[in-house]
Amino acid sequence: MSNFESNVREALANPQNQGEIADADAVGTVGSPECGDMMRMWLKFTEKDGKKVIDRASFQAFGCQTAIAVASMATQLLKGKTEEEARHLSAQDLSGDLGALPPMKIHCGQLVEGALKNALDSNSLAAASVDSSLAPTLSSAIHQPVTGKIRIVPLD
Ligand code: FES
Repeated sequence: MSNFESNVREALANPQNQGEIADADAVGTVGSPECGDMMRMWLKFTEKDGKKVIDRASFQAFGCQTAIAVASMATQLLKGKTEEEARHLSAQDLSGDLGALPPMKIHCGQLVEGALKNALDSNSLAAASVDSSLAPTLSSAIHQPVTGKIRIVPLD
């Protein structure tokens, strides 16, 4: 068994931050057309040293073990990150101590990355209703290009 596989197995024994954050500021949902798996991520922000940072992140997965392990790791890594910092995290970054994603598992990490970006976008749209001069329009958010092989699939 590779290091990555044993790290995934270890993470699955005690996955962190599963389930809804009832008072979340942002929620994102994506589905992978490649495997049919889905991921939802919730974010709660707080103010720290004059900056808005992620206080809590959680997830719910209808997906493979790798996606669950990466989401568990990612929701821990996201604590204390600003929205801008979180936006720059790749699937590989989000897999953290699990190690580098093997080529066959990259789309599993991208599912987590997609859920995070979708949540951050939903947070930006919420801000748009307060200050419409800074944020994208609803139309531009819906039509923005999606990276990787992840397609955003709104459930509601
Ligand atoms: Fe679908 Fe891993 S096989 S996310």
